[in-house]
Amino acid sequence: MNPIDYLRISLIDRCNFRCQYCMPEGAELDYILQQDLLTTEEILALLQGVFIPVGFRKFRLTGGEPLLRPGVVDLVEAIANLPETEDLALTTNGFLLPEMAQDLYNAGLRRLNISLDSLNSANFDKIIGNGGKSRWKRVWAGIQKAYEVGFSPLKLNVVVIPGVNEGEVLDLAALSCDRPWHIRFIEFMPIGNPELFGERAWIPSEELRQQIRAQWGLEASQVQGNGPADVFRIPGAQGTVGFISQMSECFCDRCNRMRLSADGWLRPCLLNETGQLNLKSALREGVSWSILQQQVQDLILLKPEINFKLRDSGTEDGSYHRTMSQIGG
Ligand code: GTP
Ligand code: 5AD
Ligand code: SF4
Repeated sequence: MNPIDYLRISLIDRCNFRCQYCMPEGAELDYILQQDLLTTEEILALLQGVFIPVGFRKFRLTGGEPLLRPGVVDLVEAIANLPETEDLALTTNGFLLPEMAQDLYNAGLRRLNISLDSLNSANFDKIIGNGGKSRWKRVWAGIQKAYEVGFSPLKLNVVVIPGVNEGEVLDLAALSCDRPWHIRFIEFMPIGNPELFGERAWIPSEELRQQIRAQWGLEASQVQGNGPADVFRIPGAQGTVGFISQMSECFCDRCNRMRLSADGWLRPCLLNETGQLNLKSALREGVSWSILQQQVQDLILLKPEINFKLRDSGTEDGSYHRTMSQIGG
């Protein structure tokens, strides 16, 4: 079994975008109430009292949109300064990076994954829900800013949606050629907006790989990270192209992570809700660190069974209660 040492920490379930595949416009979401959000102090206490003692060393901050959370820069600084932290990263939609990238870097963050589903402004707005005004330019400026500030490796996430952005795969892959940017094509998953999940809802990574290979060739490569991407390089390119293929492949056997939601539920698997632990309640009720450590350790031992046996049960029996924005991707 892989060591489980990577924790994805969702800081907030709200977002300033409405990506079709995540929290589409018009969807009614019950947002977490302010009093139910873990506070900064509680997140740090859980890291020091529970997660670090049981072996977690790699942390990723997610959302919703994590940069909407007040105090995010201070939290970054505190986690970056924990002596046990081996890797700290953040996944964002990029909209707030023009003003926040420098502060995040100064606080000790070095790795950013930014969503960029399209290079075409109209297409981009269609995917993210434009709220009446175009957002592409600002996200692009945010990516440039993050690059100038020195974030590395800088990864760009593309969820490939049939009939929407599939025609842009080569243009997006080409971004890796003359900049050290790492483009990752993600197979769309039926979480958040299963209605989008029609006949041809997702495109197997292998089809995209073949397109890119036919154009330029592809060689196996690597980039720093803890996630499930298979990484390649266009010969001579500065960056890489990666593929996250959770629909066409099962990578559960190499799963190394758990997820902490913004309201303090620890979730062993993205794709089903088995075994969730309510750490916020336990913390607020004063349950001891040693008991919490034991409970998390027990959950780690149960994880392979939960991953494999129950991988798709959330989608099959409709028992998904949370959207991607609530789970943190
Ligand atoms: P690094 O490799 O460390 O840079 O991070 P990452 O790829 O894990 O992080 P990111 O937040 O960019 O995640 C990208 C996407 O990978 C997510 O939105 C999911 O689509 C997919 N993904 C990440 N973890 C899992 C997982 O445990 N199960 C499944 N099915 N998909 C995952
Ligand atoms: N399928 C695949 N990826 C998704 N993301 C959000 N919703 C989905 C989905 N239904 C991606 C976002 C972001 C990452 C955290 O999760 O594009 O890059
Ligand atoms: Fe917001 Fe990210 Fe979901 Fe898009 S994918 S709506 S940017 S949380």
